Amino acid sequence: MCKILAIESSCDETAAAVVIDGIIVKSNVIASQLEIHRRYGGVFPEVASRQHILAISTVIQDALIEARTGWNELDAVAVTYGPGLVGSLLVGVNAAKGIALALDIPLIGVNHLEGHLYSNWLKTDKTDPPPIKFPVLALIVSGGHTELVLVHNHGEYEILGRTIDDAAGEAFDKVARMLELGFPGGPAVQEAAKEGNPQAYDFPRAWLGNSFDFSFSGLKTAVLRVIQKYTKTNILQHPAMAAQAKVKPTIPIADIAASFQMAVVDVLVSKTKAAAEKYNVSEVLLAGGVSANALLRNKMMAACGRPVRAPSLILCTDNAAMIGAAAYWHFKVGHISGWDLDVVTNLELESK
Ligand code: KG4
Ligand code: ZN
Repeated sequence: MCKILAIESSCDETAAAVVIDGIIVKSNVIASQLEIHRRYGGVFPEVASRQHILAISTVIQDALIEARTGWNELDAVAVTYGPGLVGSLLVGVNAAKGIALALDIPLIGVNHLEGHLYSNWLKTDKTDPPPIKFPVLALIVSGGHTELVLVHNHGEYEILGRTIDDAAGEAFDKVARMLELGFPGGPAVQEAAKEGNPQAYDFPRAWLGNSFDFSFSGLKTAVLRVIQKYTKTNILQHPAMAAQAKVKPTIPIADIAASFQMAVVDVLVSKTKAAAEKYNVSEVLLAGGVSANALLRNKMMAACGRPVRAPSLILCTDNAAMIGAAAYWHFKVGHISGWDLDVVTNLELESK
């Protein structure tokens, strides 16, 4: 049995978990900084790193207590070393180094995107899901990344496509900001979309020929144009009220949110389906914060014609259990990091 303490601090969640054999989550503690960053409408990097410093020791201790695990029972310490915010990553990496050094156990640096992918290996209830058979196709969709990856084996990745501009989550966050729905945007847009008509606006889908790359910046601009059109029309129709700036233009928020969400999901599903067919994969894995989106999960399952796996909702967004899951496979084949492990803010997903 291999017990790994995993640490994640790449963005605005300070997280620690104890994971057994890359599959069983003994604890998964997440201290979210959401309420603090909400004031700024996005993650404020300087504030994030300070909050990580304040939270990290308690979060790690809580993870060990919740897992009923003593320091001396740990086999390795895993930590996200990129991609992410430099100050935030440094807090986790230094904490992990200190623990590994003090306990004289291996240190394993993990790529955050690989962590998201491996959240699919984690067991979250008492049932035993069928084992994942390679090759699989993974769609990793987060706030900073949109990647379609052919996974040939553990640690063997072939990137089929990625975004050439905004990430899917970033598009959700920006549109939410335009619609004044708050931060983070994904859950807010999903909620607003419930009351809306997804066909109300025919927003553009960037197919980019037959490529598996993605682009969301045109869609974001199209949403902005529609919002601006409403703002202008209302000012023209009600000049007196607009001058007083007392009445906000009535923007059909629900219809815009629903149509935008449908446009994003449409492209993600169509390209993933096409890649799954082309490479004849046994199943499709969804991962990353945007994989929490209900429309994406449902449409993907309906479209792909093969099993589609997605992590439980708590494991879609940033957490440390996923880092422990990915670390296990590195540990098994002896991929151990040196004491010179440094943070890499723009780390890419690569085979090792
Ligand atoms: O993976 P994650 O927690 O952090 C990064 O690695 O970036 O992903 C965060 C992103 C944010 O952009 C957030 O708006 C998006 O995931 N997100 C969602 C949903 N929940 C979170 N997007 C769409 N629908 C959701 N339900
Ligand atoms: Zn993430």
